[in-house]
Amino acid sequence: MKKSHRILIVEDERTALRALKLILEDEGYSVLEAATGEAGLRIALNEEPDLVLLDIRLPDVDGITILQRLRAGHSGAAVIIMTAETSSANAIRATQFGAFDYLSKPIHDEHLLLLIQRALEYRQLEREVRALRGPATPEAAIPGMVGHSPAMQEVYKVIGRVADSAATVLVTGESGTGKELVANAIHEFSARRNMPLIKVNCAAIPEHLLETELFGHEKGAFTNAVSRRIGRFEQAQGGTLFLDEVGDLPLGLQAKLLRAIQERTVERLGGTGPIAVDFRLVAATARDLNAAVPEGRFREDLFYRLNVVGISLPPLRNRREDIPLLIQRFLSRSEKPVSIRQDALERIMQHDWPGNVRELENVITRAVVLAPGGLITPEAIAYPVIPAAVAHGRWEAGVPFRDGYWQVLRRVEAELVRSALREADGNKTEAARILGIQRRLLYQKMTELGMG
Ligand SMILES: Nc1ncnc2c1ncn2[C@@H]1O[C@H](COP(=O)(O)OP(=O)(O)OP(=O)(O)O)[C@@H](O)[C@H]1O
Ligand SMILES: [Mg+2]
Repeated sequence: MKKSHRILIVEDERTALRALKLILEDEGYSVLEAATGEAGLRIALNEEPDLVLLDIRLPDVDGITILQRLRAGHSGAAVIIMTAETSSANAIRATQFGAFDYLSKPIHDEHLLLLIQRALEYRQLEREVRALRGPATPEAAIPGMVGHSPAMQEVYKVIGRVADSAATVLVTGESGTGKELVANAIHEFSARRNMPLIKVNCAAIPEHLLETELFGHEKGAFTNAVSRRIGRFEQAQGGTLFLDEVGDLPLGLQAKLLRAIQERTVERLGGTGPIAVDFRLVAATARDLNAAVPEGRFREDLFYRLNVVGISLPPLRNRREDIPLLIQRFLSRSEKPVSIRQDALERIMQHDWPGNVRELENVITRAVVLAPGGLITPEAIAYPVIPAAVAHGRWEAGVPFRDGYWQVLRRVEAELVRSALREADGNKTEAARILGIQRRLLYQKMTELGMG
């Protein structure tokens, strides 16, 4: 059974490599070998071994970098790291980047063989589970989405289950959690994939233009209607309509949307009658519609019509285990190979990510530019002083407009004061100097913000 398993050993010390090879071949494994990181990477990606035994210290590239690049290249091999140091930092980093386990040198044959057996069994099991779930959780196949957390697994499952139906889907989640990616995935996995996917951002279009944008108009329907305009619903004929920020839809249009969903028809402004349209609707919002309904800002009947299937995307701070994978994904977009130092990763793991995946993406993109020699250090990790949600012009879901202003200001103020204090190691005189304000004003602000 295990005779068919192929193991790649990446190890620069000749004698160590030969010894390992003997042990493994003795057990019936077939062995591939590489003496440098680059060679190992090439063989791993071309030959697709079942398992890679990876020395962490290699002459050219270090093992963790190779691990990151293997995963970025979608190698499905199980990886066991071999290290002479017993530093837990390396171990944590290795497992965070998808290594099955690590072994401290000198390596004990029995332990090694046991671990290999376990890794191969685990890999097999993982495959079987994936095959069982069938195309309902094609995680790797969901375009552009990464994340292994149980919450994201759940999201992939729902996408897989609903994509092929005509059911209306409501995607909710904070800003930057990937709502648009989910809409894309639903379309891509549906039978409508070769038909148009039309996107409308209800918050970005002025209210008086939104109606013709969605429903279109006939020539002469109103003073400026010099020609006929086909609305977004009709453009989505046979395909999918993605209504982003649907929570921002004015009440008048909510009624029209409800009718379009119920009747599957739309009426152009100035038109002579309803036109049948075959569309699949995916709506998204960062607002809490459950709260908007009792406040009369969102029609209850429309809410139920939209929320036939609900997909709720968890904030990044509640699924921190996905962060290393997301980092890998963003790093793999860089043209030069870039890796991240353990202390920089730790710094990232501690952050709260108010702007979620988008904020992480921005921070990494910036860090890649700043990384000297392709290695990201903590100094290259900088968070915007203004929280991402504010930078995107949004405020807490459900906060009335007039409160939104003060709420946003307070968040900006709190973030400024906190960063200055952090920068000054808690020294208030220094923090005030950084902010360019009197120490007294800093104290006052800290009291107001409940940070005193
Ligand atoms: N699971 C994920 N894997 C990879 N990239 C992701 C993931 N989730 C989000 N992103 C990336 O983060 C960014 C934000 O995603 P997206 O635009 O889908 O978020 P959103 O929820 O629609 O945000 P907003 O409410 O601000 O419009 C995009 O660049 C997207 O590619
Ligand atoms: Mg969006």
